Amino acid sequence: EKGEYRHFMEKEIHEQPDSVQHTLSEYLDLVSGKVKVPSVDFAAVERIQIVACGTAFYASQIGKYAFERYAGLPCDIEIASEFRYRQPAVTQGTLAVAVSQSGETADTLASLTWCKAQGLKTAAVVNVHSSSMAREAEVLWPTHAGPEIGVASTKAFTAQVAALLSLAVAAGVARGKIDAAQEAELVKALFEAPRLIAEALQMDAGIHALTIDLAKARDVLFLGRGPMFPLAMEGALKLKEISYIHAEGYAAGELKHGPIALIDEATPTVALAPLDDLFEKTASNLQEVAARGGPVIMIAPEKAPDPHGAGIRRVHAPDCPALISPLVYAVPMQLLAYYTAVQKGTDVDQPRNLAKSVTVE
Ligand code: M6R
Repeated sequence: EKGEYRHFMEKEIHEQPDSVQHTLSEYLDLVSGKVKVPSVDFAAVERIQIVACGTAFYASQIGKYAFERYAGLPCDIEIASEFRYRQPAVTQGTLAVAVSQSGETADTLASLTWCKAQGLKTAAVVNVHSSSMAREAEVLWPTHAGPEIGVASTKAFTAQVAALLSLAVAAGVARGKIDAAQEAELVKALFEAPRLIAEALQMDAGIHALTIDLAKARDVLFLGRGPMFPLAMEGALKLKEISYIHAEGYAAGELKHGPIALIDEATPTVALAPLDDLFEKTASNLQEVAARGGPVIMIAPEKAPDPHGAGIRRVHAPDCPALISPLVYAVPMQLLAYYTAVQKGTDVDQPRNLAKSVTVE
């Protein structure tokens, strides 16, 4: 039940410190600071092919960045409805991974079955452990978000990201890309996520205040670089789904290649700008938006420098290790969509035209 919360979505957003903690504990050992022995021999894997839909697709893209960066493991990710019909060229040595909250999404399940028929090793990152995908895949990689009622996925998303980041570290260890000291540091960083997610939940009031203006917009642009790019797309999807405002997530570096033409006084830009090695580049993109009169909401740690430009409003996010920034910055994305929808008076938990699980194409 919803308890003190108005909507299941709000409750599920607030459950994330626990659901992420629980999921991390499946893959990592807090006491030893080591990864648990993964059920797949990553040293023998040549390539990962992930298939997923919707929010699970964005979580997978974040996973891709981590598998390549921390494990040097090539990782492709594709929308399942495309993958299943285009006769993809797969090579033996590829591990096929389905990522899904429900484990029942028709296109993802069909892609998984197809990969298995090609003789590929298969794994499934699923939240419903008795689902079709859990049974179909050789290896089950569970997430522990618990039942998710809101149609807009929140805690299942962060649980998927937590599982994939942990697996990427495990793959890095197995492949000799990460030494014992780095392993301890990355495991420690991951276990800081629940606390920092709880801290990010304190952004509540600041985000709420911004949504008074955001709810009036017709279009909203979300920008990010690195893993913040898929998270920008996830933020845009969340806003679309529950507030019915048109939103697009873009890689900040793509701004000049088209979307900057959309910028005017009525088109807000939300930027995910953790203080990492790409911060300055994102900040300069925001100056370009501000110079064209576009309102900007910059989500960044308090200690990040102020970009020049009128119209840049800031919301302070917790400062966090780079590995876990997608987990921490997911929270302001979700709160932004949630409060905008509440402001508009839409049906947050049951948005129009959407079903929780898409079991028919
Ligand atoms: O159950 P799945 O994770 O396979 O579902 C995939 C998508 O249908 C799902 O993530 C959808 O995009 C959500 N409504 C997102 O909030």
